[in-house]
Amino acid sequence: IKCATISTVDPAFDPVITKAARDMPLTKYGQVLTSEFNAVVIEHHLKWSPLVCTLPGPIDQTAPPTNYLGRYDFHHVDTMVDFALKHNMEVKGHVLVWHVTSPPCLEDMSPDEVGSAVKRHIFTTMGYFRDRIQIWDVVNEALASDGTLVENVFYRKMGPSYIEQCFRWAHEANPRAVLIYNDNKVEGCGYGSDDNPRYRKNAPLQAKSDGFYNLLKDLVGRGVPVHGAGMQAHFSAGGVKHQRPPTPSMVKRQIRRIGELGLKVNISEMDVRVSKLPQDEALRSRAQTCIYRDILTAALSEPSFDGVWLWGFTDRHTWVKNFYYDDRPLIFSEVYERKDSYEGVKCAL
Ligand code: XIL
Repeated sequence: IKCATISTVDPAFDPVITKAARDMPLTKYGQVLTSEFNAVVIEHHLKWSPLVCTLPGPIDQTAPPTNYLGRYDFHHVDTMVDFALKHNMEVKGHVLVWHVTSPPCLEDMSPDEVGSAVKRHIFTTMGYFRDRIQIWDVVNEALASDGTLVENVFYRKMGPSYIEQCFRWAHEANPRAVLIYNDNKVEGCGYGSDDNPRYRKNAPLQAKSDGFYNLLKDLVGRGVPVHGAGMQAHFSAGGVKHQRPPTPSMVKRQIRRIGELGLKVNISEMDVRVSKLPQDEALRSRAQTCIYRDILTAALSEPSFDGVWLWGFTDRHTWVKNFYYDDRPLIFSEVYERKDSYEGVKCAL
């Protein structure tokens, strides 16, 4: 089992990786990262826009978009990937096709231009990391909450078959790579029996979880080269209903039925928000610890489950603070101390 991993390997706010890659002494971030985890996923810099739209100097808007869509800057990602590999950590590529972080110019392009731009992006990026990254999130968050496909720019320009097309291009670009479809609020199947208020029994987003399963079943049924499914598991211990985790038995059932399609399943971006709980720190810590422990214990009991990836590891760097500044959703404190939730994860592994 590839246990927890890290997403926040982002030199933008923690230059430890950049420095460490140049053989400087590991800072605390790097020490915890390399001693506690065996894999890395890059939170932001391996997405399409950060790779092509952050090059210095103005983009020549008069030139055809395909010109700058062909301008890649991999240096940030090189630093992080080389750091991880130097410390014998596996790297997951996140994410090739996600409408949220794709170049805005795609909207102004013709269907054929978008198709060739997506194909070029997949081949360029997977080709560049061909010897260093063998696990890829190919398509991310293509489902709406009712389980149908989001009519994002890829859907509108390439049609609903864009998902299949992206997986086929990805397989051609690197036939050895494990190719994953990734989504959120898809972690539960059926209805829970647990009466524990920590979980939601009647998954209000059951339609999306069913849509996730049906999408995967359809791809597998048509011989599309998809090998895995990622369930993001961005949970909230006391938050709004649809962010509370499904019961462990619902998670187990979802992994079981996806595994029966012949796919591996991973939890791809786990964090457990607590800021919606009352201020009582002990209550927050207990709720968070139990969710990490119970959900991962249930997942790990399924043979098709092959790894858990956290979205960050220290509360010092979590994307959640963009929304809830005072939240602490992870397993190490702001000063890199192990939290009770660390024990919750360890107890499950
Ligand atoms: C988020 C990152 O954490 C942020 O730093 C970035 O600004 C936006 O993307 N689901 C995903 C991730 O698949 O790629 C998102 O990551 C969080 C939601």
